[in-house]
Amino acid sequence: MNARVYVPRDATALALGADAVARAIAAEAQRRGVAVDIVRNGSRGMFWLEPLVEVQVGDARIAYGPVKAGDVAGLFDAGFQGGGAHALRHGAVEDIAWFGRQERLCFARVGVTDPLSVEDYVAHGGYRGLRNALALAGADIVRTVTDSGLRGRGGAAFPTGIKWNTVLGTQAAQKFIVCNADEGDSGTFSDRMLMEGDPLCLVEGMTIAGLAVGATQGYIYLRSEYPHARRALDAAIANAHAAGWLGGDVGGSGQRFDLEVRLGAGAYICGEETALLDSLEGKRGQVRFKPPLPAVQGLFGQPTVINNVISFASVPLILDRGAAFYRDYGVGRSRGTLPIQLAGNLKRTGLVEKAFGLTLRELLYDYGGGSRSGRPIRAVQVGGPLGAYLPESQFDTVVDYEAFAAIGAMLGHGGIVAFDDSVDMAEQARYAMEFCAVESCGKCTPCRIGSTRGVEVIDRIRAGVERERNLDLLGDLCETMRHGSLCALGGLTPDPVVSALRHFPDDFTRDSAAR
Ligand SMILES: Cc1cc2nc3c(=O)[nH]c(=O)nc-3n(C[C@H](O)[C@H](O)[C@H](O)COP(=O)(O)O)c2cc1C
Ligand code: SF4
Repeated sequence: MNARVYVPRDATALALGADAVARAIAAEAQRRGVAVDIVRNGSRGMFWLEPLVEVQVGDARIAYGPVKAGDVAGLFDAGFQGGGAHALRHGAVEDIAWFGRQERLCFARVGVTDPLSVEDYVAHGGYRGLRNALALAGADIVRTVTDSGLRGRGGAAFPTGIKWNTVLGTQAAQKFIVCNADEGDSGTFSDRMLMEGDPLCLVEGMTIAGLAVGATQGYIYLRSEYPHARRALDAAIANAHAAGWLGGDVGGSGQRFDLEVRLGAGAYICGEETALLDSLEGKRGQVRFKPPLPAVQGLFGQPTVINNVISFASVPLILDRGAAFYRDYGVGRSRGTLPIQLAGNLKRTGLVEKAFGLTLRELLYDYGGGSRSGRPIRAVQVGGPLGAYLPESQFDTVVDYEAFAAIGAMLGHGGIVAFDDSVDMAEQARYAMEFCAVESCGKCTPCRIGSTRGVEVIDRIRAGVERERNLDLLGDLCETMRHGSLCALGGLTPDPVVSALRHFPDDFTRDSAAR
């Protein structure tokens, strides 16, 4: 029997040389006359071990990593194709504590299956949710999603079932399902990993949404910086069509659902749902006034479900195992699991999917392993570039939407970026304002003008020019942006600025020569 070897095709693994490793394994196997089947899987999310090569030995998958092309001959010498001992061997993947302690619901198949194979997808529980959905009325699918407690994973954490119910209840000849795959937040990559590692899960989730609300057409709005995700999605969509899971007769039900990928053009604001819809319509991405909500008048003026990748990808399991199964994970009003992305100055970065309820400290130290530099972690930014900076005294905050809101922070899309004590928080505050100035869509004054003035005011504070007066001015400016901006880009930019001022005031008043 051929040895089965898994080499990830995930963008992170590719950036670290996974293609060269796959080529080296194929060449070395041929040279030695060893029969191997190489499967290009997704990533398990342990980035410090990428490229992580796995070998099927009986029921176990034995992991070796990080593997370089130059290690391959030595791995064959060690008999790795049969799980042989080697310095890079970590044992069975599930026995690696970092991985084994996770609760992988949404990411259950990522890294496990061949992402493009419908057969492999079905063999690992794929399309069971859609099969169940086909036996239900739209309102019952929506109720199941509502009862699961699923809240949008794109940032705002709005209950998914309530949004779907609005679209279901709005009469129209054409409705749309739109997936927000713009993933613009700093330090986030869960959407990308899911799309590259289990694209059929997103396809299935969107198809269930279509059946639930009566929409026959879906679009995935994908950031153009994700070429590997695009290839995976295009192939998965074509394969789902060929297998009868998309098109005019979904799963033999006689119901239609079609799906296409559309590329964004690289603007952070196009992740905001109404700017995204404008961009999808071929216009410049600018924020729309609300109401009307996209659920009532969305794409081309039609009722539209717009959800994040992880929101849609959570739905197949909910329809498969039931609302109660999913709701049993989590705490308070934060139900289910969150795929958390560890980034920045940490020893072990990557994807940790856990039920809501663990603390930030556990993530930073038990999973992240502390800072990579070995210096104390001074601050973390959670929830992307608009997220507050949290000091050490807040590291015991529980991963829960309400607990974060209570300290003036947000979980957002679950990205965590860590900084050690060499960070200058005044510079970070300046960066937040500058980011807003660069990415502002320009529709409203507090954001368009305020962010530019904000950079100037912070520059004056840092330079020691009329510090007290400029600190007051910055406070006023932040208040104006928070309350006067049309969308959350201008409205939330004060959060990183104000949190930096509150928790790290010395960084703003330090002598500029000491920087
Ligand atoms: C400036 C800005 C950028 C955003 N970027 C994204 C993004 O990249 N991906 C995303 O899913 N949601 C993003 N959102 C949130 C979306 O507007 C919207 O809430 C989300 O797509 C709804 O899906 P969900 O309910 O599944 O989270 C952004 C919001 C704002 C204000
Ligand atoms: S807050 Fe900024 S990004 Fe949002 S609508 Fe106003 S100008 Fe555009």
